[in-house]
Amino acid sequence: MKNINPTQTEAWKKLQTNFGEIKQSHLRDLFEQNQNRFQDFHVKFEDILFDYSKNRMTEETRDLLIQLAEECDLKSAINSMFSGENINQTEDRAVLHTALRNFGDEPILVDGEDVLPEVEKVRSQMKLFTAKVISGAWKGFSGQPITDVVNIGIGGSDLGPVMVMEALKHYKSRLNVHFVSNIDGTHISETLKDLNPETTLFIIASKTFTTQETMTNAQTAKDWFLNSEAKETDVAKHFVALSTNEEGVTAFGIDKANMFEFWDWVGGRYSLWSAIGLSISLAVGYDNFEKLLKGAYKTDVHFKEAEFNENIPVLMGLIGIWYNNFFEAESYAILPYEQYLHRFSAYLQQGDMESNGKSVDRNGDKVDYQTGPIIWGEPGTNGQHAFYQLIHQGTKMIPADFLGAAESHNPTGDHHVKLMANFFAQTEALAFGKTEDQVRDELNKEGKSPEQIDFLTPYKVFEGNHPTNSFLYQKLTPEVLGSLIAMYEHKIFVQGVIWNIFSFDQWGVELGKQLAKKVLNELNSTDEEKSHDSSTNGLMNAFKQMRK
Ligand code: F6P
Repeated sequence: MKNINPTQTEAWKKLQTNFGEIKQSHLRDLFEQNQNRFQDFHVKFEDILFDYSKNRMTEETRDLLIQLAEECDLKSAINSMFSGENINQTEDRAVLHTALRNFGDEPILVDGEDVLPEVEKVRSQMKLFTAKVISGAWKGFSGQPITDVVNIGIGGSDLGPVMVMEALKHYKSRLNVHFVSNIDGTHISETLKDLNPETTLFIIASKTFTTQETMTNAQTAKDWFLNSEAKETDVAKHFVALSTNEEGVTAFGIDKANMFEFWDWVGGRYSLWSAIGLSISLAVGYDNFEKLLKGAYKTDVHFKEAEFNENIPVLMGLIGIWYNNFFEAESYAILPYEQYLHRFSAYLQQGDMESNGKSVDRNGDKVDYQTGPIIWGEPGTNGQHAFYQLIHQGTKMIPADFLGAAESHNPTGDHHVKLMANFFAQTEALAFGKTEDQVRDELNKEGKSPEQIDFLTPYKVFEGNHPTNSFLYQKLTPEVLGSLIAMYEHKIFVQGVIWNIFSFDQWGVELGKQLAKKVLNELNSTDEEKSHDSSTNGLMNAFKQMRK
């Protein structure tokens, strides 16, 4: 990967000049000046329409952003990722989640070996296992079929599968799939409360098989299981592992035959396409899992082949950079008008913030520009009654993505058309607002006195000019979902390349993990704690005293 400071490029300087002009213009003016703005600023890809016309940019801005991508050598970075080069340099690994959903014929080489046959082998293992469990052929220790599956994992070994399972609930199999992630004993206790050890299958999902939360929950699950009529030899019927660490898996007592493998070139937060997706496959059936992969594969081909000005992930990434680095927007909202996507923003928080929450560039130097934004969001219309006030009339700029379907899986009465009316109305209101003249006119028509009109007007004005992207897709099918997730993954990649950072490591989570180990030992001793700062000592000593 090239090592280019984006702020030193020609394009960056030109973008600064362009920004000086654009920041004065209102989206009202941009739409006025170009009557074809929708036509000129949208991309149709398969079942997804991406409209980015409600952004504070002109064609010149777009051209300059594309020039920035070219100067930062994005094209060759994309090729490096897809071809399995060791672009995760701080961990000396390739980044090949795209290989997990590659249905093409070309081999993908890692250290000279084609990885696709291994990928296919694990997929077949998942398919067979899913069929056995869903059909009831896989029996628990008392001879009963499995009814409940508990996925124990955290971060990438949890958030992706949870999000997808919720998103594809319409396609649910007969199995009830539960997720336990938090080390807080409440999570596993509340989950196990209603379950029967005879009919429960545990999936221990951990790339490393060392993560404290997962190993603690897995041990508790095993103790709970063995506390029933089950014997040690029954573990094989009720515990499977998804991991890269065979030694760890067998040491825990799970048979190698019950292990679904993946590889170090699959990043945790990019792993739902791997064996980590076993809970998805059980929740919605293997065929739907494969459709999800195929949807992502279509996006991969688009990302690799489409020209940058028609390339959705590239445009998403560049638009994000425009707001992050020029408008200095601190956060980015993801607002699905789709209840099934209620965990989408939470999932992308890890995807984006763990990837691009970095401040050292690929040269080892501290960056002197902004990198990853804060990602947040909740589904509409709920968000409208919670935090939209601040987006409309607060002091912060919050660019947002809106996502919604043309067709609902649940066409009950007129719910769907009302939902989408809100989607379109919000993006329009955010962009165009309501002027002082409009407010005065409205208040006048309501019969308000001149004094009341003068008093109320400033509060009722909507400045507008709040940018949004809109994703309108046909229906939330597994294919569409796969395509959308892959678009966000590649958007993150585009931004990491341009910010000249390493997007595929996560050293920032290590310090807390290390300290927690030390603190745990100290909390388990009865001695007064003196080795930390006064606040940490004070809290730890109070905890020791208060603890029953
Ligand atoms: O939060 C740090 C992290 O390493 C994530 O990147 C990863 O998804 C998560 O922990 C879980 O890791 P593992 O799958 O190895 O248990």
